[in-house]
Amino acid sequence: MSAQLINGKEISQQRLEMLKQKTAARQSAGLRAPCLAVVLVGDDPASAVYVRNKKTACEKVGFRSLSYELPADTSQDTLLKLVDDLNADAGVDGILVQLPLPAQINSQAVLERILPHKDVDGFHPYNVGRLAVKMPLLRPCTPKGVMTLLETYNIDPKGKKAVVVGASNIVGRPQALELLLARATVTVCHSATQNLAEEVGAADIVVVGVGIPNFVKGEWIKPGAVVIDVGINRLEDGKLCGDVEFNAAKERASMITPVPGGVGPMTIATLLENTLQAAELHNA
Ligand code: GUN
Repeated sequence: MSAQLINGKEISQQRLEMLKQKTAARQSAGLRAPCLAVVLVGDDPASAVYVRNKKTACEKVGFRSLSYELPADTSQDTLLKLVDDLNADAGVDGILVQLPLPAQINSQAVLERILPHKDVDGFHPYNVGRLAVKMPLLRPCTPKGVMTLLETYNIDPKGKKAVVVGASNIVGRPQALELLLARATVTVCHSATQNLAEEVGAADIVVVGVGIPNFVKGEWIKPGAVVIDVGINRLEDGKLCGDVEFNAAKERASMITPVPGGVGPMTIATLLENTLQAAELHNA
């Protein structure tokens, strides 16, 4: 049997349409459009594509976007000064500094400089902490987008065994907190995990974010499991592939996200939802 595809592209388009309507309603009520500032340091081609997609999505829904492209040799002080200026700018609701940053910059120091109420990535320890104590405010976009997909497809994690593969600050850790908040029994696997195949094989819901093409084998998947693939890897032939062996996994899973067209578009839609939320916090 072949799994049902979880269509992140379609769901994200529906979410963007909703945001467009909410933005228009705000403007009718005399409020300005939400404004997102995106900062890109250096010339990593993948980061440039992500940043461009974020700007395009802003335009689609009627948000204002400001874009700052700084050279690869930018100093930490220069970047911190830009963050301070954006923090102080009442016209800016959300600030996103694209990761990874060049080696001379301490990423954590930069993320911690962003005002928590403008932290649309949800990476500031304040927002991570709020998620950890069941009082989420601004939530990391990719894990939140995954939860939106699960909800839209009526997949309730409550009481299920959820396995997260990867423990990054961007995906795995906040994903585990999200699934815990949704009352799943959560296991987090990482590079020191023994018997990964066995852990994955016990999961009702598997979320994989490791950045390695086809890392999770189709044969590991428990028949009927839900498979969420966060990976976006570019192969030598230019094609994109996920972190899960898609063709083999879809023969065992009940539902699965494709790459592309699964989690990726949801991350961007969620970023814009967070930007609207930040604008509302700003007004409040
Ligand atoms: N790099 C890869 N994913 C992300 C993300 O969600 N936010 C930021 N700021 N950088 C990233």
